[in-house]
Amino acid sequence: MKTVLNVALPKGRLGEKVYDMFEKAGFPCPSIKEQNRKLIFENEEKCVRYFWVKPSDVAIYVERGAADIGVAGKDILLEYEPEVYELLDLDIGKCRMAVAAKRDFRENTERPLRVATKFSNITKAYYAAKGRDIDIIHLNGSIEIAPILSLSDVIVDIVETGTTLKENDLEVKEEIVPISARLIANKSSFKFKGDLMEKVIASLKTQTAEGK
Ligand code: PRP
Repeated sequence: MKTVLNVALPKGRLGEKVYDMFEKAGFPCPSIKEQNRKLIFENEEKCVRYFWVKPSDVAIYVERGAADIGVAGKDILLEYEPEVYELLDLDIGKCRMAVAAKRDFRENTERPLRVATKFSNITKAYYAAKGRDIDIIHLNGSIEIAPILSLSDVIVDIVETGTTLKENDLEVKEEIVPISARLIANKSSFKFKGDLMEKVIASLKTQTAEGK
């Protein structure tokens, strides 16, 4: 029986770029470009099956072996620390994790800093390392609203172009860590489908800075 490689792709713009890299790497699946709502696509001849999943769920599919490999943002890997192998920095989906606040924000060091974020673990680790007490306000999206409505003093969030901050009169105060998309693998698939995976990794690598 042929070994099939199951690949979890992050749905959306990043996922399309990722698919193009896999296509160039010799793992095409033309049906994926059809306009429909299907979520699973297979190219039997090339031994590959793609799934579109929510970007923040890719690591769950890979960790539990529903996918052999996938592409997840470093933000998700730092936040949830899934038990997966991180194989390659794909050099796409580049942004940074940062602390942002209103332009005129002045910190009151006499009391805990109120921080709104989707990334509670990254935030806790960052401020713990600085020895700063914080009060975390966990939100699921539209984080930029929090300081505007005085729900928080600052936010910890992803900044890509900076447009969302700018249009909401906020600015970056501190940079925490650069982020980019990473190729990840299930630990046992890496052993059992090693040959096929090595092929994928090697051809994807030639498309990244590391391989050039
Ligand atoms: C992300 C992030 C920022 C925005 C940054 O939001 O949380 O809001 O993108 O991008 P920019 O610097 O290019 O403006 P996303 O679109 O994922 O939505 P959500 O966090 O509000 O769910």
